[in-house]
Amino acid sequence: MDDKITKADKHLEKLEGQKRIKGDENKRVGSEIFDKQTLETLYKLANQGYLDVLNGAISTGKEANVLKGVKKDGTFVAVKIYRISTSDFKKMQYYIQGDPRFKIRSNNKRQLIFSWVNKEFRNLQRLHTANVFVPKPITVLNNVLLLEFIGDDIGNPYQTVKHQNPRNPQDFFEKLMYEWKKFLHDGKLVHGDLSTYNIINNNEYPMIIDVSQSVVIDHIIARELLNRDINNIVNEFKKFNLNISSDKIKDKIDYGRIFKN
Ligand SMILES: Nc1ncnc2c1ncn2[C@@H]1O[C@H](COP(=O)(O)OP(=O)(O)O)[C@@H](O)[C@H]1O
Ligand SMILES: [Mg+2]
Repeated sequence: MDDKITKADKHLEKLEGQKRIKGDENKRVGSEIFDKQTLETLYKLANQGYLDVLNGAISTGKEANVLKGVKKDGTFVAVKIYRISTSDFKKMQYYIQGDPRFKIRSNNKRQLIFSWVNKEFRNLQRLHTANVFVPKPITVLNNVLLLEFIGDDIGNPYQTVKHQNPRNPQDFFEKLMYEWKKFLHDGKLVHGDLSTYNIINNNEYPMIIDVSQSVVIDHIIARELLNRDINNIVNEFKKFNLNISSDKIKDKIDYGRIFKN
């Protein structure tokens, strides 16, 4: 074990507030998600002052874990860590090809994941600049993305719409249409995985998240992805007894003006 990793491990103990099992670098108490490089990445981010302590899991998804980080000043940060081992490279390749912002020359899986995470960061920057209500991106390094923590002052994350029904679904739906329209026309991106799992109920206002797979509007698969997003939203919001259809949504998001050809 080289010195760098030992240092990173020590730091992880501190980050997790837990003891490591000595002698076996792969047996870390409660930290199966961290491989050596991820550890080093977290260590670097901590050194740069972006976070001090990792304080519990917010979500364990198919490809990424979202954790709550605490900074020295006691404020929170969301830490999204893409697991190298369980990433869907085929999907990543499919979405990244055809995006003029990314020129992937190598077939290296690790590099592809890093580009994928970078894509989420840049998509968030772009949306944030376009005034779409998304978590503010803070920084990105390798497979770790740091975001504004969306929750209350004492560190409880707000829930997604899937888990926290809006009090006034009709009103919430209209706000979602407003944000989605900005997403498409000002951010010039198609989300690609829009669902109640990826919309946070932020004090009864929809906040769209999870934009790693989002593609630029002139991407060859943009239209297909948008049609799928529309169908998903129709199906999911029907539960709230709203009088909606894909045509009505298309009208609200000004579908006809999105694609030039
Ligand atoms: N910035 C954030 N602040 C608080 N919670 C978040 C934040 N981003 C994501 N989450 C939580 O983590 C979950 C997973 O995040 P998401 O970006 O959708 O990743 P995945 O690719 O695993 O679906 C979300 O459903 C939400 O509950
Ligand atoms: Mg998600």
